[in-house]
Amino acid sequence: MNTAHKGRILVTGGAGYIGSHTVVALLEAGYEPLLLDNFANSSPSVLERLHTLTGQSITCLEADCTQTDAVLERLRPLHVAIPFAGIIHFAAYKAVGESMARPLEYYHNNLGAMTSVLRWMEELGISLLVFSSSCTVYGQPEALPVSESAPMQPASSPYGHTKQMCEQMIGDFVRANPSCAAVLLRYFNPIGAHPSALLGELPLGRPNNLVPYLTQAAAGWIPPLTVFGTDYPTPDGTAVRDYIHVCDLARGHVQALDYLAHKPGICQAINLGASEGVSVRQLIDTFTAATGAPVPHQTGPRRAGDVAQVYADTTLATQLLGWQPQFSLADALRHAWAWQQQLPETSRP
Ligand code: UFG
Repeated sequence: MNTAHKGRILVTGGAGYIGSHTVVALLEAGYEPLLLDNFANSSPSVLERLHTLTGQSITCLEADCTQTDAVLERLRPLHVAIPFAGIIHFAAYKAVGESMARPLEYYHNNLGAMTSVLRWMEELGISLLVFSSSCTVYGQPEALPVSESAPMQPASSPYGHTKQMCEQMIGDFVRANPSCAAVLLRYFNPIGAHPSALLGELPLGRPNNLVPYLTQAAAGWIPPLTVFGTDYPTPDGTAVRDYIHVCDLARGHVQALDYLAHKPGICQAINLGASEGVSVRQLIDTFTAATGAPVPHQTGPRRAGDVAQVYADTTLATQLLGWQPQFSLADALRHAWAWQQQLPETSRP
């Protein structure tokens, strides 16, 4: 681990899937993360795993980001003792289908938390923000690979709308507070787990996303995977996405913070993906080749709201952040499988 101290960073949602991997990357780079999480979609046991993995003591405030003033009063003395150099804001609800069924919860939680984070920056004088955004802001792009200059299309879900609205809130905030700076990281499809198998994705209940569903189906924990749609205008008829290893994504947040340190007044959107379109069928085949485990699966109709294909142009991430993915798709799938294999019986569905 790097022992240089580059500053304390508040990580909202730091116990979550991408948050926890980013905490490791921050520590490796010499930052001091302080986590804020209400464990709505994560487990406090992640804190022990982070300690085992990094050998560092991990501080986590258990708090709900939508409680703007109550959390501010808890942050204030911490900030006086050791100032926060920046915030990485992950805390949000993220299930597309659930957001269609319960839109108000999504608007309340995601926009409420965003408002709080910006208020805390204003009140405490914190100038740097890295925001967890999504390629969902592009809708079905007209040209592929999609770059940051592509026009935003109407999002296909309330979840997507909240990401678009948060980006807009941050842009307005930085314009009004030009000593502040922000990077909006637009993730493509984060997958995989830490190579140590100590951190990974732990979906509550039956997974909706492809990779956690696939690994649980391959283990025989849940019924066979259904491939949603075989008639898309793609080479093999199944939908194409850009899958990015969660550790590569985590490193992107650290590089975004480093980049922001000298850029007051900017609000920059940056894609993070592997820049490679992979179909559902290709992903299943790569998983079996990488792990030796067959994937029981069947085909079914398209899933409502899915786009046919989306993958990233990541030229800007390379130019501005010096960022490049280091792990392959096969690495990510092997790591996801290794993580799941070591889970105790009690955390299985
Ligand atoms: N898929 C299946 N079977 C499944 C699950 C998924 O065939 O059981 C397919 C989907 O139809 C899609 C692909 O696998 O073609 C990937 O689906 P995911 O649910 O894993 O991911 P999405 O691309 O739908 O969604 C992801 C993130 C969202 C984000 C969105 C932006 O989960 O947070 O990308 O496009 F908003």
